[in-house]
Amino acid sequence: MSDDLQRVTKLPESRDGCPRSVGDVLARAVTHALVGLEPRRVEVEADVYENGLPAFAIVGLPDRACAEARQRVRSGIHAAELRFPKGRVTVNLAPAGLRKEGSGYDLPIALAVLAASQQLPHDELDRHASIGELALDGRLRRVGGVLAVAEGARRMGLERVLCPSESAAEAALAGIEPIPVRHLADAVAYLRGELEPDPIVPPRAHDPPPLPDLADVRGQERARRALEIAAAGGHNLLLAGPPGTGKTMLARRLPGLLPALEPAAALEVTRIYSVAGLLSVEQPLVTVPPFRAPHHSASTAAIVGGGPGIRPGEASLAHRGVLLLDELAEFARPTLEALRQPLEDGVVSIARAAGRAIFPARFQLVATMNLCPCGARGDPAAQCTCSGQRLAAYRDKLSRALLDRFDLVVTMPRPRAVELAAGPSEASAQVAPRVAAARGREGLSRTGDADALLSRAVERLPLSGRGRARVARTARTIAALAEADAVAAEHVAEALAYRSPQELAA
Ligand SMILES: Nc1ncnc2c1ncn2[C@@H]1O[C@H](COP(=O)(O)OP(=O)(O)OP(=O)(O)O)[C@@H](O)[C@H]1O
Ligand SMILES: [Mg+2]
Ligand SMILES: [Zn+2]
Repeated sequence: MSDDLQRVTKLPESRDGCPRSVGDVLARAVTHALVGLEPRRVEVEADVYENGLPAFAIVGLPDRACAEARQRVRSGIHAAELRFPKGRVTVNLAPAGLRKEGSGYDLPIALAVLAASQQLPHDELDRHASIGELALDGRLRRVGGVLAVAEGARRMGLERVLCPSESAAEAALAGIEPIPVRHLADAVAYLRGELEPDPIVPPRAHDPPPLPDLADVRGQERARRALEIAAAGGHNLLLAGPPGTGKTMLARRLPGLLPALEPAAALEVTRIYSVAGLLSVEQPLVTVPPFRAPHHSASTAAIVGGGPGIRPGEASLAHRGVLLLDELAEFARPTLEALRQPLEDGVVSIARAAGRAIFPARFQLVATMNLCPCGARGDPAAQCTCSGQRLAAYRDKLSRALLDRFDLVVTMPRPRAVELAAGPSEASAQVAPRVAAARGREGLSRTGDADALLSRAVERLPLSGRGRARVARTARTIAALAEADAVAAEHVAEALAYRSPQELAA
């Protein structure tokens, strides 16, 4: 047992060193607040003064949803056929400087109030963390962030976490024993030693839904090749071209080429989905790379994260997976600029009153766009009607700095009739094993020829330092796909061919 916990189990006999009056009892429950994904210990103290004027106050920087626990806790206690204490009830959420968001504090508040009014043993309560929202009829409702709270409890040396039944499998991922609770009355009976907790039903594995297959895409060999390279190296990919050439179709087929998440990555992604309240009850562990495709009208906060009641944005929900920005040029420019930080650092950091919240956001960006606002550019059968001014404004949306972050830029021509009439193309199931094998071949070094070509390219093309590094990485992926022993000039040449977005510049 940690020192921390030892200290907690000894409840103070007095406040401010003053002797306590008769009928004035303090009790404490433990839970966690989240700063980003980081759990911070919160002590829920309840002080009941039965001789005081009837009042129920929650202090300690609760947000609106948290403060509304007053109504839910009062009703929940009555519904559990327990006694809501007479007199003055004060609940303090400590430390007071940390903002407490959401309804997950209902259960610890109710338990602390019950312990303070002598309806629960204090020492049992001290051994458990707790989280959950109360319905007015006393039932427990699922809330987000149970995994992180359970992880915080484990780190503190607590043995068990009381949580809504539907969140028990999620809490178990933290390596702590969850006590599933259906109703407040059950939590109380359990803490009094009158009820065995429900057994945890292990999540049943079910097959992930089928993903769209590459076999559906006709022609577009160059774009398909770029997609395979992008999958093998986690590179950012921009697909440009006239309408109806299969850009969206191809972009949506990237997830089907990616290998399942490693266990550590799976837990990282699951933590994010837990906080966002997006985990499935049946199968809480996220095992496949996420795929997110936000609409271009989404706000910057929705895409990057932040806003009131801080939540991970699409960039974080795509962590270890794919973020598709379909119709890239339609997104608001500030939104695109805000994505530059996560694209470079793999994290989103959001300023808060009480410090910074950090969310991981290491995603692979795939974007599509037309070559001009009317869409006709790049299509030999159509005539572009865009004015020079309109075209310039369209391109201005995409800063050089953003374009610089795409390792692979491909324009997709209109497929020829023979291509569309041809039989099915190579299927995802044939491409995915090549991707997985290439991912296993890392750390290839460059030959002298490859180095010389890269250096010449830096001078010939205006290639930034970042651009050079990105070409080198793409070349390494191409060499790995070719099962080569080293990165040769031909691999650098192919990587360079995907770099120059001339169609977007001219
Ligand atoms: N290469 C292709 N192979 C097979 N079908 C295709 C191909 N290109 C387009 N299609 C057909 O056209 C439809 C539209 O394709 P898609 O939405 O991918 O076009 P797009 O390039 O994203 O166009 P837009 O610029 O208008 O968004 C697809 O659902 C598919 O039926
Ligand atoms: Mg499209
Ligand atoms: Zn046009």
